[in-house]
Amino acid sequence: MRGSYPHGAKHLMMITGTTNAAEGIEQIAAYHQRSKHQLHRYAPGPGGLDWANQPDPFRVFAQAPRVQLPLVADSLTVSYAAVSRGRYVAPRPINLDALGALFELALGISAWKSYGGARWALRCNPSSGNLHPTEGYLACGELPDLKAGVYHYASRDHQLERRALGTPAWASALPQGGLVVGLTSIHWREAWKYGMRAWRYCQHDCGHAIAAVAFAAACLGWRTRLLEEWSDADIAALLGLDREADFFMAEREEPDVLLWVGRDGAIPEPGQLVALARDAQWLGRANRLSLDQVEWRDIDRAAAAAVKPCSPTEAPGATPDLPQLRDPRLDLPAATVIRQRRSAVDFDGVTTISAAAFHTMLDALLARSRLAPWNAWAAAPRVHPALFVHRVAGLAPGLYLLARSEAALETLKHSLRREWLWQRPPDCPGHIPLYLLLPYDLREAARVVSCHQDIAADSCFALGFLAEFEAPLSAGAWVYRRLFWETGVLGQVLYLEAEAAGVRATGIGCFFDDEMHELLGLEGTAFQSLYHFTVGGAVDDPRLTTHPPYAHLGICRT
Ligand SMILES: Cc1cc2nc3c(=O)[nH]c(=O)nc-3n(C[C@H](O)[C@H](O)[C@H](O)COP(=O)(O)O)c2cc1C
Repeated sequence: MRGSYPHGAKHLMMITGTTNAAEGIEQIAAYHQRSKHQLHRYAPGPGGLDWANQPDPFRVFAQAPRVQLPLVADSLTVSYAAVSRGRYVAPRPINLDALGALFELALGISAWKSYGGARWALRCNPSSGNLHPTEGYLACGELPDLKAGVYHYASRDHQLERRALGTPAWASALPQGGLVVGLTSIHWREAWKYGMRAWRYCQHDCGHAIAAVAFAAACLGWRTRLLEEWSDADIAALLGLDREADFFMAEREEPDVLLWVGRDGAIPEPGQLVALARDAQWLGRANRLSLDQVEWRDIDRAAAAAVKPCSPTEAPGATPDLPQLRDPRLDLPAATVIRQRRSAVDFDGVTTISAAAFHTMLDALLARSRLAPWNAWAAAPRVHPALFVHRVAGLAPGLYLLARSEAALETLKHSLRREWLWQRPPDCPGHIPLYLLLPYDLREAARVVSCHQDIAADSCFALGFLAEFEAPLSAGAWVYRRLFWETGVLGQVLYLEAEAAGVRATGIGCFFDDEMHELLGLEGTAFQSLYHFTVGGAVDDPRLTTHPPYAHLGICRT
């Protein structure tokens, strides 16, 4: 349906939910099924790109006072190895400089690309189709050079737009030594290109952004924690997403998640902060991103079914005592790795990585609760990569499985094809739960299941993130979003580890779900493959020109 903007009643339904728990789970399972790509039929899409209505990738709030953030990420010398391996990084004081580095490295622009007459921005956080449905927010108490309140991060200009002006009372609602980063999604940005499946991509992107924030915070010596208790309605109230007049004629934003960033210690609870936000003076009007929009009812229904209620914080998953994670091959500053991260558009089909490099990347996918991004993601691991190994020195090409939790291993063995070998590869460090299922050249199979994309075959390895599905979903439809977020968090780790290993990665949202399941011999829905990934020797597209990220602000750097 065309031309109807998300109006108040519909939006209210989307942030408060409409259905009871069992119906919600049923609806989300139906969405999952209908949004699958199949070899003979892709999930419903727009059937062509409506360029006249391409959504603006940059949200701004007109009339909101703006605060320029400094561009200081370059001055951070801390190494990627230190940040990602949990070595001591002296905590920075929370001030405008630190906020500038935090937002630049998490959600800021990393480069502009141009080709012919087209020019587009890339960001430190990746996004399916580079459409960037994720928006970033800050809620803070009074800081030396920033008033208390709620701010929207305007990535194009690296500015904070003040949406709500806090009062001295905000100091008592926000524990000392930290701040809140909020993430939201504009589903239409993604649906414009991808139709029904787009809502899944919004969730992946949110997961990537969670990890991007956690890594950026770790560069500043801060830790990140997901504020699990908060309901979507509370998040919407704090960030002003439920303020209908402020979004008049503009595409609404859906609440995703709040992250507490800063020192260890107390975390903010919804009650008082939400009340203060409701009483605050709000400023600014959201810009309209498209002249017209297509309404994807399936997305609206799924989003309404998966609204998160207030829930107790999940007990942290038992993390086994893992040995120190080995350093990556390259010793680069963290800011360099984060800002140079790119998706490979093509792989050379010849690069081979060492078994040690491969094992280190897999090791980095194991949850070490002290390290970023796992300090933000306390829940027990529910996602287990099924790998197509193509070119890893000393490792037989074939199908492998990394069981990220001991508890999942037995269920995986029972759920997948009976004939799989479940052999431990020689020379794989004992604590990395990697299993060879089938030695075979699977390049063609990887290409086919990844919507015939060559990047899945010409790489060193590709994978499908196999998520526990039925059991976690029984806790509520909102858990569906978290499963996708977990795959996004894992994807962000792979993106950065690949850069630090001298290779490159690409997320793959386009894959044939059930063909992948069939290949694994998976029946039923105990597990589902939710996201694919590929890592290898990248080949750049020589037709594209790269430009510095913030030259338009008068700051020229590469
Ligand atoms: C969730 C997700 C799904 C993606 N799916 C694909 C894909 O199927 N094929 C592909 O070539 N790239 C895919 N990408 C890569 C994006 O196109 C890329 O992130 C985007 O163009 C931005 O470029 P950058 O990652 O270099 O910043 C995906 C990325 C994400 C985060």
